[in-house]
Amino acid sequence: MPHLKVKPFDSSIIATKIDESTIMTHVSKALNSDDILIGIEHEGEEFLLQLKADEKAYLLKYDKVTRPLKVNILKEAIGKVAKELGLEVYASNIAISSTKALLSSKYFKKIEDFVEIEYPKKKVSVEVGFGSGKHLLYQAHKNPDTLFIGLEIHTPSAQQVLKQIELQNIENIWVVNYDARLFLEMLPSNICQEIFVHFPVPWDKKPQRRVISKSFLAESMRVLDKEGRLELRTDSDNYFWYALETFFAVPKTAVEIRKNEALEVTSKYEARWLRQEKDIYDVYVQCNEISTQTREKIDFNFNGVIYTHGIEERLSKEALVYDGYFIHFERLFKSDATMLLIKCAFGSFDRPEHKYILLTQEGCRYFVSPPVQTKVNLLAHQKLIEQLTLKEGQ
Ligand SMILES: C[S@@+](CC[C@H](N)C(=O)[O-])C[C@H]1O[C@@H](n2cnc3c(N)ncnc32)[C@H](O)[C@@H]1O
Repeated sequence: MPHLKVKPFDSSIIATKIDESTIMTHVSKALNSDDILIGIEHEGEEFLLQLKADEKAYLLKYDKVTRPLKVNILKEAIGKVAKELGLEVYASNIAISSTKALLSSKYFKKIEDFVEIEYPKKKVSVEVGFGSGKHLLYQAHKNPDTLFIGLEIHTPSAQQVLKQIELQNIENIWVVNYDARLFLEMLPSNICQEIFVHFPVPWDKKPQRRVISKSFLAESMRVLDKEGRLELRTDSDNYFWYALETFFAVPKTAVEIRKNEALEVTSKYEARWLRQEKDIYDVYVQCNEISTQTREKIDFNFNGVIYTHGIEERLSKEALVYDGYFIHFERLFKSDATMLLIKCAFGSFDRPEHKYILLTQEGCRYFVSPPVQTKVNLLAHQKLIEQLTLKEGQ
């Protein structure tokens, strides 16, 4: 990832350069270390750069939480900041590259995009954990009238499939590099024809990490259209029985089971089990109802929350754990007497959100964008407001 190693310098000069800068918007220093965050606005993107001090050299680099998808924007910003501050560069890896970043492909969608997105096809299907993407690509070829949303948490697999989509000129796949267990909440009700879950990780020792769960099933039934179906394919006896138990607990569904059914396409993963002559189970759950539930738009505003003197002392240093979610103020950065940038983690234990909150005397907002619109994030957001409005003595 892009960074510059520069000769140590007096970092207090950064604040004096903000007003005349074409790119820097604010600067803040960690309360418990010498780390510095520089707010950037460049090419329509807002993000942060970090400055880490070391005796021999200072490191000017990207910030993981706010990093823009296009690496070249980041590289340009680092270069401009170094120039505006007149830094002496020891080492650099910010040469602009001409290769197209796959994650900026138009077929790559961020979870935030789904807050307001237009679906280009009437039919939509989802594949959870597509791995090498063989099944996803096959389905998309075969059903050009359906949009396939492929979900995969493993970034290199997502990148590989994006490459294939471009090479094979496929126009009806969106790739989302996000946890399927939370993603379904972003979809409107009754939109899906099929949800494929092929060979999910069995997580025998950590069953709470499994994709299939009561809440995943409930969300699947909400997003599936009437007669749409959830298709689980697994080689794990354990997972098969666990899934059946989960599925039978839900009313208004029809469950069908098959054993050693051949599909038209065999993934690399499946081929391994076939060679070992392992049993393979399919479980189909059909949705028998139109869902009347609508997905509510969640408001992540901090209406009326402003910086109050000494709030940095009142915020809990420990993570605060609630029923099914948590909030944790991880690091505090202070700009002047009236501005605080708070790095925090919150939401579900499996897939926490990492965000900055910018708290000033004028107001408060997530920097740079609000969290994913899940119910658990809303609960966490309400607790964050409670903490940020703590009065002295509370
Ligand atoms: C065992 S592989 C199966 C891959 C593919 N479906 C196949 O049949 O070859 C499981 C895949 O699910 C992905 N995965 C696991 N948990 C996930 C989750 N919560 N959301 C999205 N993908 C997930 C993993 O990264 C992995 O690529």
